[in-house]
Amino acid sequence: MQKKVIVLNRLEKPVLKQLQTYFDVEVFHPLENVNNPRFMKALHEAHAIIGLGFQMEDSILSNAPNLEIVSTVSVGYNHLSVDLLTEYNVMATNTPGVLDETVADVIFGLLIATARRIPELDHYVKSGKWTKMLTEEQYGVDVHKQTIGIIGMGRIGEAIAKRAHFGFDMNVLYHNRSQKREAEEKFAAKYCTLEQLLAKSDFVVLMTPLTKETEGLIGIKEFKQMKKSAIFINGSRGKTIIEKDLIQALQEKEIAAAGLDVYEKEPVDPNNPLLKMQNVVTLPHVGSSTFATELAMSQLAADNVIAALHGEKPPTLLNESVWIKKQNQDKE
Ligand code: GLV
Repeated sequence: MQKKVIVLNRLEKPVLKQLQTYFDVEVFHPLENVNNPRFMKALHEAHAIIGLGFQMEDSILSNAPNLEIVSTVSVGYNHLSVDLLTEYNVMATNTPGVLDETVADVIFGLLIATARRIPELDHYVKSGKWTKMLTEEQYGVDVHKQTIGIIGMGRIGEAIAKRAHFGFDMNVLYHNRSQKREAEEKFAAKYCTLEQLLAKSDFVVLMTPLTKETEGLIGIKEFKQMKKSAIFINGSRGKTIIEKDLIQALQEKEIAAAGLDVYEKEPVDPNNPLLKMQNVVTLPHVGSSTFATELAMSQLAADNVIAALHGEKPPTLLNESVWIKKQNQDKE
């Protein structure tokens, strides 16, 4: 009998077709309620879950006795609760590596759009208000040769540093759990404490993954440590900052502007005060959303499922210990 795979919310069509050649695939798109009886039945039979936009919880795992792997179509995996999956002996995988340059493009775009006020000026032109010379109030600030501080120097952070250094002649500072000698050599990046980075940067770019350690990393204290002219960019997760503190920092002019791809609650609440601020540029969490990269992420997520359900090690496994345990059991 074919193994059962649940697809949740997102998987590109050619990849879905490929999975259907190997497995009995049931798609829930969108999955609005995990208590829906069709989902509960599928869960009971499932060997794999693949997709995006779900939170792994005890109540799901305790109803999934056959589950071998949960494969997210994202690089961020805070929603997987990897420790919990490990307790249940379920492999967890994500999609690192295939989206770095794509995310770096859009984060840099957001940075330039915020600095040069592109959405605001676009609206000014299209709404027919450009009837006379610009005033100083409409000027932006330079990006080139300024100081960028990258918090979280992983692969995406490095791709941003590359653009900053080679493309814009920027002075690159970074803060990370560990020092990245290669990035220092390649992009003249300087390692700083968080406090030093916040105090010296014209652009503070947050790229760290959401973990217990990084939740609420940037709050009012940190915003106050930034320059009053600083532009803050969040490309990580909404919960790595304290959103109400960002609102306060912008209202009280502790910082100049913000560019956001992520929010505490997604989709963002239409009444969120950030959406009413002209000095805030917003995107709907589209860091990796190009056709090519979404396809590459879906493919990698599917490759993980195909490997796991064929008894092979998934290429981007997050909890190695589950694999080792499985190998040992197979030997017995
Ligand atoms: C996007 O935010 C991702 O984690 O892939």
